Formats: sequence, C-alpha cells, structure tokens
Amino acid sequence: MLHSAVINVMIKAAHRAGRSLKRDLGEVEQLQVSVKGPGNFVTAADRRAEEIVYEELAKARPAYGFLGEEGGIREGTDKTHRWIVDPLDGTTNFLHGIPHFAVSIALERDGAIVAGVTFNPANDELFVAERGKGAFLNDQRIRVAGRRRLGDAIVGCGLPHYGRGDLKASRNEIAAAQQNFAGLRRYGSATLDLAWVAAGRLDAYWERDLSPWDMAAGIVLVREAGGFVSDMDGGEAIFAKAQVVAGNETMHRELVRLLREAGREATAPAATA
Ligand code: IPD
Ligand code: CA
Ligand code: CA
Repeated sequence: MLHSAVINVMIKAAHRAGRSLKRDLGEVEQLQVSVKGPGNFVTAADRRAEEIVYEELAKARPAYGFLGEEGGIREGTDKTHRWIVDPLDGTTNFLHGIPHFAVSIALERDGAIVAGVTFNPANDELFVAERGKGAFLNDQRIRVAGRRRLGDAIVGCGLPHYGRGDLKASRNEIAAAQQNFAGLRRYGSATLDLAWVAAGRLDAYWERDLSPWDMAAGIVLVREAGGFVSDMDGGEAIFAKAQVVAGNETMHRELVRLLREAGREATAPAATA
C-alpha cells in the first residue's frame, strides 16, 4: 500500500510508540498483583510514548506545532500545521491490563483535520486515513456499516466516570439509546470507538466531555470511510463543544435526533400533580 510521505511519518511514530506501550503492558500485568498497583508506572509509560511520537514527528516536520495530551502545546514556526496526539488513549484499560488502547495521531491543516492514524499495538490494528484518499485498516479499505434499521444497530458510547460529567443528561441519553438500538457498548478508547465506526464494527457512537486528541484522528477516519461526524446538535463544533456523534448517514441522523430529544427531557420541568 502506497501512502503519502506524511502518513508514513505518522505510521512510523505510531508504531514506535505502540511498541513501547506493548512492552510496558507486560510490566503492567505483573504490577496488578501489588497493593500499590501500576499507577505511576502507567503515567511514565504514557509520557514515554508521547516523547517517542514527538521525537519522530519533529524529526520529519520540525516546523509543525504539536498538541499532546501529556506535554500540552509546543508551538511551531509553521502556523498552518499542527499535530494533535494522544499517546495512550484508553489509559484505564491499559492500567487494568485490558488490551484495548491506542496511539492516536492527527494532522490539522488550517484548522481542518486532514490525516489520522490510530494504532492498537495489542492486536496490531493500524487505522489510517487521509482526506480525499479513503480509510484503511491494515491496508484494507474500510467503510462504515450499511445498516439502516436502528433495531439491528450496535452503538458505542462513553460513560462519565469518577464523578465527572453530567450524570442526569448521560442517563437520559443512554436510556433513549437503549430503547432504540440493538445494543450499547462502552469500550473505553474514544479513538478506537471512532475507528470501529469507520470499520463498520460499530454502527454509531457518541460521547461527551472529550478532548481534541481523543477525537481528531477518528474524525477523518469516519469521514473517509463514508460516515458522518458532528457535535451532538449535528453541527461542526466538535472540539468547541467537546462532544461527538458518528455513524453512517441514517444512524448519525437518528442518533443526533434521539440525543436531542433526550436532552429536552432532561431539562423539562417536572410535571406537577
Ligand atoms: C479517555 C478515553 C475514554 C473516554 C474518556 C477519555 P484517555 O482517554 O478515550 O474512552 O471515555 O473520556 O478521556 O484518558 O484514556 O486518554
Ligand atoms: Ca484520550
Ligand atoms: Ca491519553
């Protein structure tokens, strides 16, 4: 498979960081049995992975800016290009030895995401997309699922954790989705959730309270796989509102509608007797 030069740079960075995380996962499995657990070790693994990604990307494109979850913003002299990187998406899974996590790298040009790479080193699945050139899983072209009936659909979601987020709104949304779709899934890695929509494994997906690095690569993956991605009102303000809905045309439209209805119910004043 022939990729553009920039995609090759991104793949190399994702592979190197992924190899480091895979080695560290072995150690995490050992540390599970200790009382202290693998917490500090995972933080170090995460930072190590980001440094590897940064080093590879900066070597190839020294002028580009860099936004990473761990290291924050590193300004570049080229103000039109920026990398958006989550070196370890699915940290909680990783911490528990669950092999569902990924390195996520996206390239933003003039404010639009133009390329994305998501790599799960635990099963060697590499998702790649570049604007106008399609989406691929391990070099095979991928497309969003063709299902049209909500009752046949499997939908991914996020769940607020550790006391964060709006529990009431999220419960209403989950109830609405449960009543309409065949099943819900919460896998714990936003970038893989989006990649799985692109690959047709999930029919749709939504989540609130996400950061740009959780979503950037997945946005271009879904769009290049023929899918739709928006904020929860169906608009373009995905990063600004920190939320995402993705799916094929039907599932995306229906999920936006259901979530909007659920939101209205959540804010409606309680009926008086
Ligand atoms: C998290 C994952 C998870 C999502 C969280 C994210 P992290 O990223 O994407 O699926 O539900 O909101 O913060 O912390 O593992 O990089
Ligand atoms: Ca993340
Ligand atoms: Ca992360």
